[in-house]
Amino acid sequence: MGVLGFIDRLRNDDKFSRTRIILENLKKLSVDEFGSGMIKAFEFVSEMKLEGDYLEFGCFGGYTMTWAYKAAKRCDMNKIKFYGFDSFEGLPDIKGVDADIPEFKKGEFSSSEKEFYKDLRRGGVDISRVTTIAGWYDKVLTEELRSKLPLKEAAVVLVDCDLYISTVPVLEFISPYLVEGTVILFDDWHCFKSSPEHGEQKAVREWLERHKDIKLSPYLPFEAFGQSFIVHRV
Ligand SMILES: C[S@@+](CC[C@H](N)C(=O)[O-])C[C@H]1O[C@@H](n2cnc3c(N)ncnc32)[C@H](O)[C@@H]1O
Repeated sequence: MGVLGFIDRLRNDDKFSRTRIILENLKKLSVDEFGSGMIKAFEFVSEMKLEGDYLEFGCFGGYTMTWAYKAAKRCDMNKIKFYGFDSFEGLPDIKGVDADIPEFKKGEFSSSEKEFYKDLRRGGVDISRVTTIAGWYDKVLTEELRSKLPLKEAAVVLVDCDLYISTVPVLEFISPYLVEGTVILFDDWHCFKSSPEHGEQKAVREWLERHKDIKLSPYLPFEAFGQSFIVHRV
């Protein structure tokens, strides 16, 4: 969920009207002030001269895709394409290890694909450079999808899908696109009380055990719950 999810929860709650006003103002902040984790990631890959694209798993209100777009523009990465993967129906059923600590609800962060594009347009994103893939990750992130997408390498990946069960298929899917220097941002690294046995931390540990050719160097923390990493291919 990260800070943004929290913000949206509060915005929809009448008890928090003052908080809502503050949060509306926060939304007006520029990418420099609020999306600094994203900017650093793009600055890094731009310095490294990576030519890959931006992949986002968890699109919802379009905030992070808009930041990514602005960060890429600022780094003169004008050829980069933006891929957004989401159910556009919110979170799946919360079960298994994700149900241990009650933090998320089924259907939370539901926003349609149409709404998502509307949000991007509002944020000034050139949507001709955006491709969305709608559906549940365990169903749509397949070899068949790989063969259809004109995607070769990932420069920056944002994993913002909150749950262990969602992160597992995402990591398997992105593996072949990762190159030396790809930056992966995990927006929910410290959710579930930062437990290594839950959420993104557990999914990453297990994934690295399966893929000995992939190593991660911790890069930067961002916002309250996020952590980014730099990929090494060995
Ligand atoms: C916290 S929101 C993402 C916030 C977004 N980055 C933004 O800037 O507004 C989490 C998103 O992950 C998506 N999601 C989570 N698990 C999923 C799954 N298994 N399959 C597809 N989408 C999933 C939800 O639909 C939701 O849009």
